[in-house]
Amino acid sequence: MKAAPVDISTGEILADGKRISTPRPATPKKMAGVVARLAKHFEWKGPIGCAFPARVKNGVALTATNLDKSCIGENIEERFSEQTGLPVFVLNDADAAGVAEMSFGAGKDRKDLVLVLTIGTGIGSAMFVQRTLIPNTELGHINVKGRNGERYSSDATRRRKELSWSDWARRFQHYLNRIEFLIGPDLIILGGGISNPRKRGNYFKKLKTRADLKKAELGNRAGIVGAAMYAAKCLREDPKPAIAERRER
Ligand code: BGC
Repeated sequence: MKAAPVDISTGEILADGKRISTPRPATPKKMAGVVARLAKHFEWKGPIGCAFPARVKNGVALTATNLDKSCIGENIEERFSEQTGLPVFVLNDADAAGVAEMSFGAGKDRKDLVLVLTIGTGIGSAMFVQRTLIPNTELGHINVKGRNGERYSSDATRRRKELSWSDWARRFQHYLNRIEFLIGPDLIILGGGISNPRKRGNYFKKLKTRADLKKAELGNRAGIVGAAMYAAKCLREDPKPAIAERRER
């Protein structure tokens, strides 16, 4: 789990990020403890945006593929707000990364159908039509060759199976083919751990799509930046209740 203060007007990170290992099992309670430690590290007293790897509606996690199952049905916003004493706003992690890429990165000039895919432990998706996010799409779980797409072609699978970059790219190509067949995006942006420039894998040139294909430009900071932007948006839309309610709890 990682955190940093963000300038939401430029998308810049304002201090070195702080990283703490995700607790296992990744229960809401244990993760809330980590969020509080991260906030304390920065002596943070403002609102917090949180990119969370699940479908999230009104602060409640509805799935938990790579988390402890006790997250399902849990109000993560409430839990994290209580633990930190600060207003916390939670959205899906890929949606957060997508929001940042559309504002400051590879999607900033695009109005057509854009799909941001984050490839890491799982595969996350964020879909934009006319720059508007359609939240919680969960396209990492489409069926590819009879398997769950992310089980077949995530970065975690590449590492677990010790696949070469070519072998992984071949798998991911099947995933992209399904995405193009089912969704038909105009632009696909590839982000998450796989877009980290320190990863030397020369997979990108091997991938072929009808859509324009770009690497994410914000790399691993996209989730943090997008989450911060989301918190600011929630506060803009509903400033008083968000803060007052959370302080009262
Ligand atoms: C989850 C998504 C998440 C993605 C990336 C998937 O397993 O279902 O909600 O966005 O992983 O973390």
